[in-house]
Parts: sequence; structure tokens; C-alpha cells
Amino acid sequence: MSIVNAKEIMVEAAKNGYAIGAFNITDLLQFEAVIDAAVETKSPVIVQTSVKPSQFLGTNMMVAIFRTLAQSAPVPVCLHLDHCTDIAYCKKCADAGYTNIMIDASKHPFEENIRQTKEVADYCHSVGDISVEGELGTVGGVEDQVKVAEDEAQLANPKQSVEFVERTGVDIFAPAIGTAHGVYKTKNPKVDFERLATIHKMLNGDGIKIPLVVHGGTGLPDDYIVKLREAGGAKFNVSTELKHTLIDAKWEYINAHREEYDPGKLDVFVRDATRKAVIGWMEKLGSVGKA
Ligand code: 13P
Repeated sequence: MSIVNAKEIMVEAAKNGYAIGAFNITDLLQFEAVIDAAVETKSPVIVQTSVKPSQFLGTNMMVAIFRTLAQSAPVPVCLHLDHCTDIAYCKKCADAGYTNIMIDASKHPFEENIRQTKEVADYCHSVGDISVEGELGTVGGVEDQVKVAEDEAQLANPKQSVEFVERTGVDIFAPAIGTAHGVYKTKNPKVDFERLATIHKMLNGDGIKIPLVVHGGTGLPDDYIVKLREAGGAKFNVSTELKHTLIDAKWEYINAHREEYDPGKLDVFVRDATRKAVIGWMEKLGSVGKA
């Protein structure tokens, strides 16, 4: 059995100078490809679902796939619910067997964000070995049902970050630092590395207690990834890149084999393209060989 929550593998990562890839999937093929990549590279891994794909397949189906794939994989695997704004759905996923839950109440004022996040953290901790992620400030761009205009994105205040973590009881923390969901509009997006480092020092200066999450992985330049890891990023979320890989690989295969009606071959091609993309991330994050 290699089912884990996110906090335990992130603490190990933060202590040892690497980071865990957290990959948003929408279907079985992507799920398999992420686990295959983790097994091939001996990497710990987080598979994540946004709310819509989780609702589309159903929580029980998602967890059944997770348990089936994770049980036979000789690497630690976590199933994470990403950016859920609905407390009831967070609880439903915790009950079903997700091992990390993100309550995203970041659009609310500080006190309401704390209230909602604490409710989910208390619940998850009472039902099982489930870690909880909270967010402060807002990440620009679009992820599933969460949309934030770039000019409305707010960075996390370091002092408030400490208060937020202490009062909510979250296990892992996503401070907004300027990274964004989707494709970056410029080659050098404005990311506040120092803010992440300051928050990391304030929370984890005496030893890793609350590992930090970096959202908006797609399109981050390689040198940014290095700096973000050094500043304390222990989980990097990647969603848009895998969506593009899925659609582009399907398009490429169908275009090249327009007369062929063999879904199995198409699936193998798409799964392989996804596996390669995920391995690329595991190499950049330094998680290869760490499982
Ligand atoms: P990207 O879509 O930019 O990779 O961001 C993913 C993410 O942060 C999911 O929470």
C-alpha cells in the first residue's frame, strides 16, 4: 500500500531540497500516465482533480481508480482535491477517500477564509489521515470553476500567512506570490520569490512544519522553478500543460491516422505523451529517485 497524504511527502521533500509534482488529471488515461511516470522515475507523486472532473466521474469512481492504481505502485501516491470552494464537497471527498483536500476560500475576506478553511481542516482531521491545503491571497487566471482576473490577484501578506496557518490548522499552505493558472502572457512573469522565502522562513525556520505549495506550474521558466524550490516550494501544481498535451496528442494521432478506428492505439499514444510530460516535471523538481 503506497497511499499517503500530501503533507508527509512534502515534509520529506522540503527537508531534502526537492519538490513534489502535483498533476491535475481529468480522466483515467492521464491518471495512469502520472502513476506510470512516478513508478518509472521512482518519484513520490500527487494526483489532483479539480471539482468538475471529480464530479463528472464521481468521487467513489475517482477514489476506486486511485486505490487500484496506487496499491500496486511501489511509490507514495496522494489523491488531492484541488481548489474546492464548496465546504460540503470538500467533506464528501474526504469521506470518499481523497487524502488531501484544498479548500479555496481565498476570494473571501480574511476572517471568512479562516472560518471556512478551519471548518474543512477540523473535519478532515477528524475523519482520517487527510492533510488540508489552504490559500491566502489569490492566484490569477482560470482553474476549473475558479476565475481571478490578473489585475485582481492579490499577493499573500507574510504576517497574515502565519496567522492564517495558526488559526486554521492547515497542513500545507499556498500563499499567492504572483504565479498564475493557465498560460503566462509574458516570458518573464512577475513572481515574488522573496515573499515565498519570507513566508517559508516564518513558518518553517525552526524545521519544516507547514510545507508550501506553488500554483500555476505551466509555463514557469526553468530558472524560476529552481528559485521557487530554493525559496521553499515543496509542491508544484501542473494542470494546463497536461490538458494541452492530452488534446494536442489526440489531435496529432487522429490527424496522422484518419482512417484507423482503433481507440486502444490512440490511448497508448496519448498516455505516452502525458507520461513523458510528467517525467519532464519530475526531473525539474528533483523528485526522481526519491521514492
Ligand atoms: P497551471 O494550469 O498553470 O499549470 O496551474 C495549475 C494549478 O495551479 C492548479 O491548482
